[in-house]
Amino acid sequence: ADQFDYDVLVIGSGPGGYVAAIRAAQLGLKTACAESRETLGGTCLNIGCIPSKVLLNASELFKEARSGTLARHGVKLGNVELDLPTMLADKDEAVKGLTGGIEFLFKKNKVDWLKGHATFTDAHAVEVAGKSVTAKNIIIATGSSVTPLPGVSVDNEKGIVVDSTGALSFAKVPERFVVIGGGVIGLELGSVWQRLGAKVTVIEFLDQILPGMDGEVRKEAAKIFLKQGFEIRTSTKVTGVTVKGKKASVTIEPAEGGPAETIEADAVLVAIGRRPNTEGLGLDKIGLELNKRGQIETDHEFATRVPGVWAVGDVIPGPMLAHKAEDEGIAVAENIAGLTGLVNHDVIPSVVYTHPEIAGVGLTEEAAKERGAVKVGKFPMLANSRAKAIHDTDGFVKVIADAATDRVLGVWIIAGPAGTMIAQAAQAMEFGASSEDIAYTCHAHPTHNEALKEAAMAVLGKPIHI
Ligand code: FAD
Ligand code: NAI
Repeated sequence: ADQFDYDVLVIGSGPGGYVAAIRAAQLGLKTACAESRETLGGTCLNIGCIPSKVLLNASELFKEARSGTLARHGVKLGNVELDLPTMLADKDEAVKGLTGGIEFLFKKNKVDWLKGHATFTDAHAVEVAGKSVTAKNIIIATGSSVTPLPGVSVDNEKGIVVDSTGALSFAKVPERFVVIGGGVIGLELGSVWQRLGAKVTVIEFLDQILPGMDGEVRKEAAKIFLKQGFEIRTSTKVTGVTVKGKKASVTIEPAEGGPAETIEADAVLVAIGRRPNTEGLGLDKIGLELNKRGQIETDHEFATRVPGVWAVGDVIPGPMLAHKAEDEGIAVAENIAGLTGLVNHDVIPSVVYTHPEIAGVGLTEEAAKERGAVKVGKFPMLANSRAKAIHDTDGFVKVIADAATDRVLGVWIIAGPAGTMIAQAAQAMEFGASSEDIAYTCHAHPTHNEALKEAAMAVLGKPIHI
């Protein structure tokens, strides 16, 4: 790297960027990572995956304690109270610990953290905090941020009309909470505040929640959320949100047009998707153009069209997920080091961390049928002994296999621990498993994963317990 300050410079320290930086350093490359935020870890560790999961866990514990479901297990409690400041402080503590952990890993692996916003000056140089830094390879891992809803202004400080960041820190539980967008964020953060006492209304533009997921899963999930007390307004659009004092009025109408209606709320969450962060990066200086969706395109090695410039994570096409970004981060570093780094984009699990959890990997039944004949096996959690024994029977496992070859094309799960169960399905698919392979693998009893085995047996036509 004689003519350059570094072999590798990564822009952004989210799951894509920090993992790429650590792997590059492990492979003997002199590496730096620029991050404009005050702590490392990106969206995921600071305002995404981690804080949301802390609140999902804590709010579920609160709900179980207060709703009396624990009493059914023989656990009787006295007066159950919410201590929201402690819950929020515990979340902040988790974020601090994990972001600090990345700082420790950077030091351990000798990755230099360049504090500040990086802008390209040419394909091998960026400016960070007024200083020019050069590198033989530059990886763009700038992530994504909230897509704004035209005409609706978010103010996370005020805490009335917020995005996901504001909804991680409400000072008190909103009595009426309107969530715009029935996607992953809306349902996860809607669940948090619903469990803590809010009356939640989800406004979804499409005719169903959770776009991109398997059709049956979307229907079953909606049923479960309704049972939990959510109000879900599908095929509905928001035409405006106004704030007066401490209240917001949300004006909605049918997506196709029709009579307007107003909902009063103490808080409104805008969660209609995220968009890639490319502004202020100086991409014009290196002649790198974006695709129609504002993303940076790469080849399968994660190289952009500009030699020496690479990109991974939310800023490139594909699902905006932390584990996808991480795997791409490892692959790009290995490719830069002259090894072969690959990511199988056909087998990336996705999980919604509500209760029950909702998870999938591979094709939906609808997409699989478009490609050819399929066989589908389903098994309800109600017939799974472990789920039944612990009173957690919502959901099912569904295995979709190629009708001719029996190769598993997709697995969809709604179950308490679906997010953990889906890893087994992803591994099987990565190894090219047939449903017969899963059906004839010995599964420990009594576990939730036996439902996956039985769904695979159902593909072959013969489950035992139903
Ligand atoms: P990011 O994590 O967005 O990191 C990019 C970093 O780059 C940021 O820190 C930013 O400050 C920095 N940056 C940007 N531009 C510059 C610049 N020019 N110079 C210097 N620094 C710059 N995914 C999951 O898989 N599981 C979950 O449970 C999950 N939960 C989520 C919950 C919420 C509320 C949100 C919002 C997201 C969640 N996600 C989850 C998505 C996940 O956070 C992202 O997919 C992931 O963070 C993407 O990683 P990344 O490295 O591409 O970018
Ligand atoms: P999303 O794409 O999951 O859902 C957005 C929803 O809003 C969709 O259902 C969409 O149809 C709807 N919508 C769009 N415009 C609308 C409008 N004007 N009015 C009403 N509804 C509208 O996006 P979300 O929930 O904001 O999350 C962003 C991304 O963050 C996710 O796609 C996911 O990649 C990531 N994420 C992942 C999590 C996980 O893995 N557990 C958790 C949270 C976020």
